[in-house]
Amino acid sequence: MIYKLSRLGHPVLREITRPVDPNEIGQKQFQELVENVIETMRDYDGVGLAAPQVHLSLQLAVMEVEENPRYPGMPPLPLTVMINPKLTLLSHEVQVGWEGCLSIPDLRGKVPRYRQVKVEALDREGKPFALELSGFHAVVAQHEIDHLMGKVYLDRMDNMHTLSFLREFYRYWTDDEGEVEEEG
Ligand code: NI
Repeated sequence: MIYKLSRLGHPVLREITRPVDPNEIGQKQFQELVENVIETMRDYDGVGLAAPQVHLSLQLAVMEVEENPRYPGMPPLPLTVMINPKLTLLSHEVQVGWEGCLSIPDLRGKVPRYRQVKVEALDREGKPFALELSGFHAVVAQHEIDHLMGKVYLDRMDNMHTLSFLREFYRYWTDDEGEVEEEG
């Protein structure tokens, strides 16, 4: 089932989400929910999606970067389900790249993010895992985990000077460095 997306202005995007009870993870209802979040991300061509974006205030987010001939510099990231994720920095090095968000349609902006992070979370079976991410994958993880804390990428921008509508983005900014992808 494909969920309806919440858009900026909906209070659910600004809530601190509640942790998932690990006993809940094995239940059929929760498993269906995870499947639906994945399906919704794929349907919207996102590389990530967080539960508040489908009106659920829960610590659940998914990521997936598929090989795309249009973005040869974008290494694939297998489907990753993150339940109750914790993010830690592996370095203080910052990278700046373009981000968009399915909850903030038609806009792009340049956002500084940490280059290397570690995510510790439960997977869709409730098993703990740790993942070290860098570059674009680290950006996606920070973007999605931000959603679980009521934050959107606009909050992370240094200033709003690069904030652009898609049409203007493609017209004036695409020669600029930085990845161009739709985050969740
Ligand atoms: Ni987003």
